Amino acid sequence: MKKELSTKMNSYLANIAVEYVKLHNLHWNVVGGQFKAVHEYLETLYDALSDVLDTTAEALKMNGEMPLASMKDYLAAATVKELDSAEMNVKQVLEITLADMELLKQQAEDIRREAADEDNYSISNLMESNLENYAKTIWFLNSMLK
Ligand SMILES: [Fe+2]
Repeated sequence: MKKELSTKMNSYLANIAVEYVKLHNLHWNVVGGQFKAVHEYLETLYDALSDVLDTTAEALKMNGEMPLASMKDYLAAATVKELDSAEMNVKQVLEITLADMELLKQQAEDIRREAADEDNYSISNLMESNLENYAKTIWFLNSMLK
């Protein structure tokens, strides 16, 4: 695996770790008429990201690379912005989540391209399955925002 691909994978891993915590923040602090639906939906998203965190890190290990594995390293490498703990309305929460899912989708697309260029099919396949999930999540979020 080329250095560029492992750096991109670790940057993605860092964003997944930060987003995992951020989705809990949104899950806890969302308020409004659709509280229950959004609160429960966000739980499905962070549960799914915990698998993405693990499979991304293990893919790095299988390719002889070291995955970032501390909150300090994740915060240093992440481009997802954390939020303070504060109540947020449903629309704000959905918009924040949508923007983050679009960012993760772009990152997964970039990694998929790079991995395919290196003939690293296990990583390009892994990213393709992540991309399928992001496409569905983005559809759900856009529909909830209409
Ligand atoms: Fe919960």
